[in-house]
Amino acid sequence: MRITKSLIVILSCFLALPATAADIKAGEQKAQACTACHGPQGNSGNGQFPSLAGQQALYLEAQIKAFKEGARKNPMMGAIAAGLNDEDIDNLAAYYASQKPKSAGGDQKLAQQGAAKFNMCMGCHGSSAEGRGVFPRLAGQQPDYIVKQLKDFKAGTRKGGPMSAMAANLSDDDIKALAAYLGSL
Ligand code: HEC
Ligand code: HEC
Repeated sequence: MRITKSLIVILSCFLALPATAADIKAGEQKAQACTACHGPQGNSGNGQFPSLAGQQALYLEAQIKAFKEGARKNPMMGAIAAGLNDEDIDNLAAYYASQKPKSAGGDQKLAQQGAAKFNMCMGCHGSSAEGRGVFPRLAGQQPDYIVKQLKDFKAGTRKGGPMSAMAANLSDDDIKALAAYLGSL
């Protein structure tokens, strides 16, 4: 009886431990379910799927939670996020944020046109598009993915705070040039 009681005490202390810092190793394990779409170490080779490598951890966390809650809508990600708890999300975000991003590449001529237009984005996304906190990294991202997101913001099908107003002022040509520039970084 005594033994059982102390065992329970010990076990419950263990379970009551405060959430520790995100566990990158555990995140790497969980990320096996993401590789088919987001690429090895989060470097996507397909414009349908965003790269996650080197992305800001806070941003990743916020987006996975938005998919889970339905605030950001995508059938694939909605289903996947539904199966993740807060700890998984923290660990996945820490894992992907710690991976080395690769450049997706983009049309060089278009990229040159996009470079000048990026000036109006630097205040939030950083001068090298490296992002900060909830402002996502855009450098090296798949151009087709960026085009889709900017069009979704413009159409209002993705809500993203300041991005609706930013995207409203961009023409289709601006969007293509910006996406090529960002992908080329
Ligand atoms: C079946 C394919 C598929 C799988 C598997 C998948 N994703 Fe995604 N993911 C997508 C698509 C498609 C998008 C882009 C949705 C959109 O266009 O808004 C996306 C977007 C995201 C984003 C938003 C990125 C950004 O830059 O805003 C995050 C974060 C993300 N996925 C994390 C994950 C994690 C973590 C896993 C594994 C647990 C995972 N995904 C598994 C298809 C997938
Ligand atoms: C006032 C700050 C601000 C400015 C200026 C700004 N952005 Fe954003 N951007 C954000 C925030 C915040 C998000 C994340 C939105 C969310 O939570 O879904 C974002 C998201 C994005 C995304 C989606 C990234 C992804 O991985 O899905 C793209 C693409 C983007 N911005 C491009 C641009 C471009 C191009 C410009 C300049 C024309 C720009 N942004 C200017 C704040 C800003």
